[in-house]
Formats: sequence, structure tokens, C-alpha cells
Amino acid sequence: MTQAQLAQGTSPLLAVRDVSVVFGGIVALNGVSFDMHKGQILGLIGPNGAGKTTLFNCLSRLYQPSSGDILMEGVSILKRPPHRIAEIGIGRTFQNVALFPNLSVMDNVRVGTHARTSSDIISDSLRLAWIRRSETGVNNKVREILAYLDLEEVAHTTVSGLPFGTQKRVELARALAADPKILLLDEPAGGLNHEEVYVLGDLIRKIRDERHMTVLLVEHHMGLVMSIADHVVALNFGKKLAEGTPAQVQADPDVIKAYLGSKDQ
Ligand SMILES: Nc1ncnc2c1ncn2[C@@H]1O[C@H](COP(=O)(O)OP(=O)(O)OP(=O)(O)O)[C@@H](O)[C@H]1O
Ligand SMILES: [Mg+2]
Repeated sequence: MTQAQLAQGTSPLLAVRDVSVVFGGIVALNGVSFDMHKGQILGLIGPNGAGKTTLFNCLSRLYQPSSGDILMEGVSILKRPPHRIAEIGIGRTFQNVALFPNLSVMDNVRVGTHARTSSDIISDSLRLAWIRRSETGVNNKVREILAYLDLEEVAHTTVSGLPFGTQKRVELARALAADPKILLLDEPAGGLNHEEVYVLGDLIRKIRDERHMTVLLVEHHMGLVMSIADHVVALNFGKKLAEGTPAQVQADPDVIKAYLGSKDQ
């Protein structure tokens, strides 16, 4: 029995409750609800513009839902200021890599140990200067994570000089550095080749198993989602279209129709 199956029946780690987001006239999310259980890898899929990143941004507090609630271990996260979201155990990567290009891999990961999720460059740089001076334990943590993600060789390399696939791994390292309970990954396979996607799938599973994390994976790469997710939620036009096991969602007529009608498949 998997960890996720064991967790079923217990109260959810994260509960998304009737969340809607309206931008001007556009309804980006329309009454979306689902649960995430401890130890689960939950795949969030849907055609372009379905609302996946919008939901992600609500979970990481970049966006405030127009209505609805998001509960972490039964407590609403919506009253938390965005810069404190990492303290309650939510870490994320960005669809378009959002690292500090002129800093080394090590410094980028170091910023993550201070539980930062926003890309407020000025305050992060100031913070970094402070971290460099005052924190020694941080270095051990950073080294452990660099070793875990096989990034030791590039520890002192400036991020902008690295291949895109490696930059994505650095982003993952930065998110892991805050020891999140929930790891939010927005299209981690985007821009990776076939072999890299395969390696990434193994890595995500390994992180879940060894670091006891719960993972929300937004992904267009169906092969990856279907091979590693325990549970899949499909969105279309801001609404939940289907949810269930990968096999159930893949066979759902509404999901098939949504994908056939979209340009990205
Ligand atoms: N900041 C914003 N302001 C206005 N509209 C937005 C904003 N962010 C997203 N939208 C709109 O909300 C809808 C959902 O977009 P979102 O980026 O969440 O989709 P997605 O599922 O992540 O798509 P993709 O697969 O292309 O990344 C789209 O119609 C998009 O144009
Ligand atoms: Mg998106």
C-alpha cells in the first residue's frame, strides 16, 4: 500500500474549497475544490489557460482568491501574508524558472533556506548579504541539498551559464531548502528532453519517498503525470472537469474532449 493510500480516509493535508479567481472580467478559476493527502503526488492537468498556474499562485499566496478558502491542516492559509507562506510548509518552483541569474547555484539555494517564495530581488539580495555573514548551519543544509540533487559540481557556477534543465534542478533545490511539507511544481518537465523527463519523474518520486513530501505537480507532459501521480485533477476553463486515478482521468470522456479541442496535444 502506498503512503497516499494509507493517508486516504484521514483529514486532508491541504483542502481547496470552492476557490474562484476573477481577473477583471476573466474568470480564471470557477469554484474549484479538491483535497491533497499527505504523501500524495497529485497531478494537476488541463489545456492552456485552464487555470493551473492561477491555482498554484493562490496556493503560494501570490494571488488572493475572489472567493473560497484554502486550508492547510484545517487552518486557512488566506490570512497569512504571502511572505510567510513557506513557514507553514508550502514551497514552489515557477513555470518560467525564477532564479537569481547572476548568483551562484549555492547562493540561490541559500536564499531558499530562508523560506522565501517571492521573487522580490531587492529584499532577497539584502537578506543574502545578511545570511552570508550570520549563518553557519545554513551551509551544511545547502551542501546536503546540492549533493542530494547532484548539483555539487556546479555549486559555484553562476546560474545564467547553466543549461535550462540544470537551472530547473537548482529551482527544485531552492524549494527543497525550506523543507516544505508540500512541494508545488509548475511544469517541471517543460523544456526538458525525453531522457531528462524520465530522470525527473524518478527524482520527484524519490523526493516524496525519502523526504516525506506531498507534491502538487502541474504538467502538460501526460506521460510524466500518468506515470508518477497517485491522483489527478483535471481543469478546463477554470472548472474542475474530473478527478481520480490517472487511469480514470485519462479515460474520462470530458477530459478527452477538452484535450482534443485544445491546441497543445
Ligand atoms: N494576472 C492575470 N491577469 C489577467 N488574467 C490572467 C492572469 N493570470 C492568468 N490569467 C488568465 O486566467 C486564465 C487561466 O490562466 P493560467 O495561467 O492559470 O492557465 P494555465 O492552466 O496555467 O495555462 P498554461 O498551461 O498555458 O500555463 C487564462 O485565461 C489567463 O489568460
Ligand atoms: Mg500555467
